[in-house]
Amino acid sequence: MGSDSLRVWSAATGLVLVLFLMLHLGGVVIAPFAPASFETYAASLHHSAWLPFAEFGFLAAALIHLGLSLAKLIVNRRTGNRAGLVSRRGDRFAVLAARSQAIGGLILLGFLVVHVLQLRWPRPPAGEELIALRVLLSQPANLGLYLLSAVAVSLHLFHGGEAAHRSLGLLDPANGFRIRRAFRMLALLVGGGFSVVALLVSASALQMGQ
Ligand code: HEM
Repeated sequence: MGSDSLRVWSAATGLVLVLFLMLHLGGVVIAPFAPASFETYAASLHHSAWLPFAEFGFLAAALIHLGLSLAKLIVNRRTGNRAGLVSRRGDRFAVLAARSQAIGGLILLGFLVVHVLQLRWPRPPAGEELIALRVLLSQPANLGLYLLSAVAVSLHLFHGGEAAHRSLGLLDPANGFRIRRAFRMLALLVGGGFSVVALLVSASALQMGQ
């Protein structure tokens, strides 16, 4: 596969994962605010016939994204192409976001392995999803890991959203500013959203003495 194809597929699968993150946040954000509705939502999700297909699709996108991004990194290092490290002098957060793409991706991979072993394999019994979350997030090490993953997600999206559009040839001078601003806002919303959910669930666990 040439480096252009690597870039295009890595970008396309990355955007599929952004969709997953938005849907996932939309689900877990119910937990701290409406516990009973969260259990109803989880139960109906788990009984959906389409769920295994969606899970398989997102898993495939995650594996392809990871594999192609690593391959792209290796090709770039070999050819001495450092175009991925976009430098925006004066915009320190953007520089940090661009430079942390590889390490952030690895942190997310590590988090995902722990996260799915905690909550997906095995899945908590029906009606006990929130109890399982509270038990997990009442432990400072887990809370720290979830907050770290939220920061990593935010930085990854902050740079990745714009970069993916560039790789797909969808970025031009007319829409560049709008796309950059939209993905930056989305990055803060998603990272902030997961952080707030983790903190509120942890606080409710401590209040209930779990
Ligand atoms: C406050 C933060 C988060 C909470 C409370 C949370 C909660 C959960 C819960 C309850 C499940 C189990 C869903 C089920 O029973 O089917 C789950 C699954 C999962 N989560 Fe999270 N999550 C958080 C952050 C994240 C982040 C940041 C990512 C990605 C980077 C992520 C990726 C996943 C994946 C891939 C699964 C497995 C989905 C499936 O196979 O159905 N989560 N999460």
